[in-house]
Amino acid sequence: MNLTVVGTGYVGLVTGACFSEMGHNVYCVDVDESKIERLKEGIIPIYEPGLERIVQNNFQEGRLRFTTALADAMADSDVYFIAVGTPAGEDGSADLSYVIEVAREIGRNLDKYAVVVDKSTVPVGTGERVREVILEELQDRGVDHPFDVVSNPEFLKEGAAVDDFMRPDRIIIGSESERATEVMRTLYADFSRNHDKIMVMGVRDAEMTKYTANAMLATKISFMNEISTLCERLGVDVEKVRLGIGSDSRIGYSFIYPGCGYGGSCFPKDVNALIHMAEQRQLFPLVLQSVHQRNLFQKMMLGEKISTRFGKDLSGLTFAVWGLAFKPGTDDMREAPSIALLHQLIGAGARVLAYDPVAAETARRELPKAWFEEEKLVLTEHQYDALKGVDAMVLVTEWKPFRHPDFDAMKRLMKAPVVFDGRNQYDPERMESMGFDYYAMGRGK
Ligand code: UGA
Repeated sequence: MNLTVVGTGYVGLVTGACFSEMGHNVYCVDVDESKIERLKEGIIPIYEPGLERIVQNNFQEGRLRFTTALADAMADSDVYFIAVGTPAGEDGSADLSYVIEVAREIGRNLDKYAVVVDKSTVPVGTGERVREVILEELQDRGVDHPFDVVSNPEFLKEGAAVDDFMRPDRIIIGSESERATEVMRTLYADFSRNHDKIMVMGVRDAEMTKYTANAMLATKISFMNEISTLCERLGVDVEKVRLGIGSDSRIGYSFIYPGCGYGGSCFPKDVNALIHMAEQRQLFPLVLQSVHQRNLFQKMMLGEKISTRFGKDLSGLTFAVWGLAFKPGTDDMREAPSIALLHQLIGAGARVLAYDPVAAETARRELPKAWFEEEKLVLTEHQYDALKGVDAMVLVTEWKPFRHPDFDAMKRLMKAPVVFDGRNQYDPERMESMGFDYYAMGRGK
């Protein structure tokens, strides 16, 4: 099939690249000229395992093309994916201006039957709005081409996006037209060979499914984080409780890891957007508000533990921070717990030596320049370099190389063997027996 994907961000690029890998001809469109030029050279703007090879191979094979001209791409395609950003507005609602602008341009150039697919995470009712906008443009042009709008949300995890796309748990298709449903079924047939993963529902149902999935996962995390603080006060090890409840197949083991809060571009934004949708309809989204509040609080927990141990004024002290990305496997720091922690530490006068296997460049770009200029924050090349002479180490992101470090070397390098573990990576008894003053999330102290 011939496809156009508008937006070469995370979702758009993975979608376009993976469809081209399956043999489809794909145009990836973006307004950012320099991004398009870099993509043509095989330089991808994000860190995503496996993506670079797929982009480069399919570009060379001529199946994957990059352009800033949507009209040219549309002329050759039957399905147009809208995969542009929906950033959070000031009130927490999703800002749809990019989605609507793309819909307008599609309407301005539509000249045959096409399926327009909303791939971006969009509030319930956006499919209808996209349809209206395209119709307005067609009316302005005085033409009448049939088209259908479909909702096809993505469930890709950063760091595992290619794999998630190629081996999805389910493929949600919100469609009210048999013709469009057939096109989508054909497109996704390759990803649904072993058993039927395709679920067809209404457009609004599909839009809501996406938000609900993310909000449910965020709820599991916030719930477990709350339980972990209670465990701490009750002298209970939350890791035992996690295993105990995860064994119930109705609860399951995933997304019940307590930690220092969830981050990323999706959970915080989507929970807020749902809250906004509910409030707009005079509802009180008590659970969702608590999920959000708990997470804000949770991101402050490591800093709280540190000030309980060292006092409110941290001047003269140096801390190692292991991990800056919002989770392992990505260089993305959006809404990362590390940011809240750095503000707390540096704000209280401390100096920080930080190490992350891939997010150093993001940190240099996103964090306050003054921190680097005044050497309040120094990024190190190696995880052990960050430990030299520090008063404590704080583990924020559970990258694999942090799991089994050389504890003797750590003790030799650090001024004092104090560890704050925001991701419960180590065994408290073992840490204490090795002479560490060890703090974790919901495990005693
Ligand atoms: C999330 C969803 O998992 C995807 O299904 C969805 O497609 C995506 O959002 C999206 O809407 O685009 P992602 O943001 O990449 O994917 O990250 P997750 O792996 O879900 O992790 C989110 C956060 O939760 C991370 O900060 C992670 O550290 C935290 N987390 C996760 C916990 O604190 N505890 C857990 O048990 C699991």
